[in-house]
Amino acid sequence: MDTHTSYRYEQLADLIVGMIDKGALAPGARLPSVRAVSEQHSISISTALQAYRLLEDRGVLVARPQSGFYVAAARRGALALPSTARPRTKASTVSISGAVAALLEHASNSKLVPLGCAVPDAALLQSKRLDLALARAARQHGTRYNAYCPAQGEPGLRREIAKRAMRIGHALSPDDVLITAGCTEALTLALTAVAQRGDTIAIESPTYVGLLHTLEVLGLKAFELPTNPTRGIEVGALERLLETEPVAACVLSSCFNNPLGSAMAEADKRALLAVLARHAVPLIEDDVYGDIYFGRERPKPFIALDGGANTIYCSSFSKSLAPGYRIGWIAAGAYAQQVMERKLAFSLCGPALPQVALADFLASGTYDTHLRSIRRIFEDNLARMTCAIEASFPPETKVSRPAGGFVLWLELPRRFDSRELFDQALEHGICFAPGDVFSAGRRFRNCLRLSAGHLWSKQVEDGIRQLGRLAKEMLAR
Ligand SMILES: Cc1ncc(COP(=O)(O)O)c(C=O)c1O
Repeated sequence: MDTHTSYRYEQLADLIVGMIDKGALAPGARLPSVRAVSEQHSISISTALQAYRLLEDRGVLVARPQSGFYVAAARRGALALPSTARPRTKASTVSISGAVAALLEHASNSKLVPLGCAVPDAALLQSKRLDLALARAARQHGTRYNAYCPAQGEPGLRREIAKRAMRIGHALSPDDVLITAGCTEALTLALTAVAQRGDTIAIESPTYVGLLHTLEVLGLKAFELPTNPTRGIEVGALERLLETEPVAACVLSSCFNNPLGSAMAEADKRALLAVLARHAVPLIEDDVYGDIYFGRERPKPFIALDGGANTIYCSSFSKSLAPGYRIGWIAAGAYAQQVMERKLAFSLCGPALPQVALADFLASGTYDTHLRSIRRIFEDNLARMTCAIEASFPPETKVSRPAGGFVLWLELPRRFDSRELFDQALEHGICFAPGDVFSAGRRFRNCLRLSAGHLWSKQVEDGIRQLGRLAKEMLAR
């Protein structure tokens, strides 16, 4: 079953994207009214609206109140979308060692143009407010918090996280939440709760390098699923895999995956959950980018669609507020007991003070204002970065169009070697992430990821132009 062709609103959405790509619909052009398009295509008004909304959520269209839908300006670009990779049809052991450590090392080197690590600019974090909350907690109850906190985490923080769960469309109680050391520990706890050494885990391809590192250390094999740069993984491919091979779990981004920025449509998510449930394979979802959406509403994570029946939800504050606090959380549902035992074994509990400070910040109610502001900044950064890429990279370059998050994925012709560019770029004081670290089998050597998490500056713009020049020179050889 290929669910991607099953829904009429998706077919209409694909048609519109094709028209934009061919130049038939220019940036800023007004689309026919929902009523007109429903008549032209003999579909219901709600189906037509669903297509427009889907494209709005993907950043392809913008809605103007009382006026209609328009082609987004950021799509001005002539650059095509990256292709959907056809990964190997076998699970493979992961060998990514060293890549994560190298990326982190470059991230802390302030002399480099920061296009490598996917972290938000320090200037975009609410550091002053967090400092005050931390100082307040230390001043008022420092001695009390210099003790082991409950293994599940500070109750105040769990309460705030549970309150925010309303925004993702899923009711959680503070008891459903366990605080972790970032999303990284949440993913490790989840994987060790459901899988054993040698098991196969189905993942997106390309996928987040840190997840690959975790799989490698845990001795788990990866089955890389073809992942469309806008629509995410192909449900049909997952279904074929589950019919042929034992799979211990599937790990997916809830939306805006790293590095593609793709987001699955809700209907595809439901289809995927049904396939997994039929084969009794648990889903571990990673929602670290979920709050950074550019569309009208936050895409629903899987847990909100299956009520948590078969889903382990992992997230953190690292991409929006406090990467250095190392605070994430997990809602493990049926696996809560196994996860708690592993938390006790791996780290007993987390540090109390940062948890109390973060709870204080969340309770102050300013987090949503902060999120609104960084969403616009990241969206703007991505648009500027896309323009800079169009102006300076080889014309065959393909680039992703994420509707959330803050990374771009670039695909160049096969003969391009992003490792060679990486070495040259470092000599020019520029850092980026080479494509091969996003695959268990070190594929994607002709691709690279650029982070737009830093405030836009001449240094960033010049860095991209310099990368483009170097890439052109390499291809001209
Ligand atoms: C998709 C994804 N998941 C998890 C993480 C790690 O999150 P944390 O810093 O909260 O451990 C990252 C960081 O880059 C990421 O991109």
